[in-house]
Amino acid sequence: MNCKIALIPGDGIGPEIVGEAKKILDKVCSVYGHTFTYEEVLLGGASIDVHGVPLTEEAIETAKGADAVLMGSIGGDAKTSPWYQLEPSKRPEAGLLAIRKALNLFANLRPAYLYDELKGACPLKEEVIGDGFDMIIVRELTGGLYFGERRTVEENGVRKAIDTLTYDEKEIRRIAVKAFEIAGKRRKKVTSVDKANVLDSSRLWRKVVEEVAAQYPEIELEHMLVDNCAMQLVHNPGQFDVILTENMFGDILSDEASMVTGSIGMLSSASLNETKFGLYEPSHGSAPDIAGKGIANPIATILSAAMMLRFSLDLDQEADAVEAAVQQVLKDGYRTVDIMSDGMKQIGTKEMGDRIAQYIERKD
Ligand code: IPM
Ligand code: MG
Repeated sequence: MNCKIALIPGDGIGPEIVGEAKKILDKVCSVYGHTFTYEEVLLGGASIDVHGVPLTEEAIETAKGADAVLMGSIGGDAKTSPWYQLEPSKRPEAGLLAIRKALNLFANLRPAYLYDELKGACPLKEEVIGDGFDMIIVRELTGGLYFGERRTVEENGVRKAIDTLTYDEKEIRRIAVKAFEIAGKRRKKVTSVDKANVLDSSRLWRKVVEEVAAQYPEIELEHMLVDNCAMQLVHNPGQFDVILTENMFGDILSDEASMVTGSIGMLSSASLNETKFGLYEPSHGSAPDIAGKGIANPIATILSAAMMLRFSLDLDQEADAVEAAVQQVLKDGYRTVDIMSDGMKQIGTKEMGDRIAQYIERKD
């Protein structure tokens, strides 16, 4: 199979971890006889340094012309980086929001599960962990507060800032459909998270989610208020299968869920549009404090590449092989510093990539 992949190394540890993910994809190609061609796309600080803006039209066109996009991470240290001297619409994060919108990536999938091998890193007590947990957060990504009208004004000498939170029923319906479809392939439960005791947008959210749920009688639906959900994630994470929520709540809850696993360096994510096209990136940030040190964990990006193989390229066997290779390296006791524990062997970014690549083999 011939595929065109747009690569966005980005900022901070981005280039290092994308380099390892590419190593894995190259190995997949040689083992399974595929040809992937790569085109690099600048986004975030890397684009500001070259073009003065965090995303260009050409970058969008290159991404659109690919079969899928694999990204590292963007952004720098807001206190020290000159990127944050720019006005907000020119900063690295604005580029990320713009590419999500331009590619219509409305569905952000963020799995959060407990690795058996990494149970020791989970900050929860054993009785809370129970049999472990395995959830996926389905976050609406192109609407809500992130994309509503905003401005800062001064009225009678008083500064005032306005952000608006809007959702129409079409935006709610399409993300709800994604969540129910995903739940159908998992444990068949959707927890829709909102703030319907306060917000109109949440009340509409609930109604539309219920209309969608009527089409999926085999799937259990529950509604949960976002503040309660934040508590439940640390109180009883095993209750969740698919969490469906709007943009801002999803941003916050997905960070919480990933922290609860104790291994944020392991968690992948996918942002999809209506077709098979998607942008794949680790759930973690650009970690500028450890950039260039060769110690970042590349596994989240490698697993994001596996998601890309599965969702955008229909290469399930290959995705299985990558996931199995990651599992094997963990079983062998190799760890990057973020997931290191007693008795394990600590290795750096490159060696982790090399070891995972070594284990990629055909199963048939
Ligand atoms: C994320 C990030 C982004 C977001 C930032 C970098 C704009 O936190 O992908 O969760 O808030 O969506
Ligand atoms: Mg976030």
